[in-house]
Amino acid sequence: MYSDKVMLHFMNPHNMGEIENPSGVGEVGNPVCGDLMQIQIKVEDGILTDIKFKTFGCGAAIATSSMVTDLAMEKTIEEALKITRNDVAESLEGLPPVKMHCSNLAADALHAAIEDYLKKEGRGEWIDGKKKGPKKKSATKKRVKRQQAG
Ligand code: FES
Repeated sequence: MYSDKVMLHFMNPHNMGEIENPSGVGEVGNPVCGDLMQIQIKVEDGILTDIKFKTFGCGAAIATSSMVTDLAMEKTIEEALKITRNDVAESLEGLPPVKMHCSNLAADALHAAIEDYLKKEGRGEWIDGKKKGPKKKSATKKRVKRQQAG
């Protein structure tokens, strides 16, 4: 039921541990299964030069943590923010449907670590890979307002 790749990452996880003075830390949990995942990142010149994880969870959660660190290593923060839950699951050659939520945890923890870094850098508040802030008015709305004004 698990792919060979899931088993490899579960038996021999990559990048497990902690980083001294991390640039960002992301922690997420699943309230249903109770599993917890923490990802720490080191960012130098906009590149993720180191990533480590600590996961208290099922085998799939450990495999997805390991895989997401491999996928994000040496990527720019912009590239790493684009890594999706599906990318993690696909890179592991699939996960059983009941274990798909484990890959959500890994991608979410990575994004949370990057968002923590961006916040510390004073680059605004980020949520789910998107910068929070005042919404820009669309061109259509501006045009309608101008037309209404006469
Ligand atoms: S069962 Fe909860 S993360 Fe896998």
